[in-house]
Amino acid sequence: MTGARHLYVHLPFCASRCGYCDFVTVVGRQGQHRAYVDALLGELALERETLAPQLESVFLGGGTPTLIEPRELERLLRALPGALEVTVEANPETVTPGLAELLRDCGVTRVSLGAQSFQLRLLEVLERRGSPDDVRRAVYAFRDANFDNVSLDLIYGIPGQSTADLEADLNDALALEPEHLSCYELEAKRGTRFTHAHGAELAGQAEAMETYFERVVVRLTGAGYRWYETANFCRTPTLADGRDLRSRHNLAYWRGRDYLGLGIGAVSTIQGRRWKTTPRLGTYLTALAAGERPPRELEELPVPVRQSERVLLGLRLDEPLSLAGLEGALDAAAVERLEGLGLVARGAAGAELALTDRGRLLGGGVTAELLA
Ligand SMILES: C[S@@+](CC[C@H](N)C(=O)[O-])C[C@H]1O[C@@H](n2cnc3c(N)ncnc32)[C@H](O)[C@@H]1O
Ligand code: SF4
Repeated sequence: MTGARHLYVHLPFCASRCGYCDFVTVVGRQGQHRAYVDALLGELALERETLAPQLESVFLGGGTPTLIEPRELERLLRALPGALEVTVEANPETVTPGLAELLRDCGVTRVSLGAQSFQLRLLEVLERRGSPDDVRRAVYAFRDANFDNVSLDLIYGIPGQSTADLEADLNDALALEPEHLSCYELEAKRGTRFTHAHGAELAGQAEAMETYFERVVVRLTGAGYRWYETANFCRTPTLADGRDLRSRHNLAYWRGRDYLGLGIGAVSTIQGRRWKTTPRLGTYLTALAAGERPPRELEELPVPVRQSERVLLGLRLDEPLSLAGLEGALDAAAVERLEGLGLVARGAAGAELALTDRGRLLGGGVTAELLA
């Protein structure tokens, strides 16, 4: 056994809760940052043997990792194992030149900034705290601190967003020359304030979203970005000194690699078992203060489930999926039919499968049809 080479660390604290978000977050509780970092490090010690000696990626996600008291963030980063790629998610309004330098000095190699939109009125619909100028200031602060791998998150399909607004957002994002962009269609998450207020509107615009998605792809690939995953784009090596700017960490998920997740609500998948740690902060802190593993929901993943996941996730990428060991997961007649329609392509004498660009634009529906 070699161990997982990818580590996710969840930092749940947020200054306020954006109406559309259903991630595991807690608002306020500044007084608990220190205890939470202690608990994360305690959990890491308990799970250390599940990790490989040398990690490929570490990802600090949230919540708002950059909201943590700088002293605690530094203590955490210095104690975590090193990796070839260390990403921290950042909210624009929390980024200062000092924070950017702290991240760089602690070995962070990549930052992922939640821009979402460059229009104040759309950010207000999303109930975001930061402004478009905060996004620009944050990018400049990271550049001044010598970060050469900056990713921006954008959301499209925001109520009131026209196609011209979308083009303007893409132009504003491109003007900052990020190495990487993630563009997500706004999802109405069950039980959120946002879905209560705008759910019907989002359901009504589903068709328009296909056009928006296509516009995103055309604009970004036209600007020289590689559309390497359904919602993810990176500058190509010719633009960036031959470096592969895909997210190593997220590639691991899409390629079905094992990963360990630390923190409340974090998911781990290791050797055919998946567990989700309690989302309750108090329960998590109490267990780890006593040196015990926090409660978790455990799920054994039967082989057919693992195979279907591999197909669903693997076909999100622009690289062909090797079908070795996955043949049973596919409906051979559906593969043939969709190939005839120009939505999937088989390679390497039928040993590999990929969606064509048209298939990718149609989204998860094509992949779902392929499954046995
Ligand atoms: C959970 S957030 C954490 C990062 C950071 N707190 C932020 O808000 O930018 C990660 C990303 O998920 C995306 N996201 C969150 N909720 C979403 C939703 N309901 N629909 C689409 N994208 C969403 C946003 O683009 C966000 O940047
Ligand atoms: S979108 Fe980001 S900042 Fe907003 S509540 Fe969710 S995790 Fe926190």
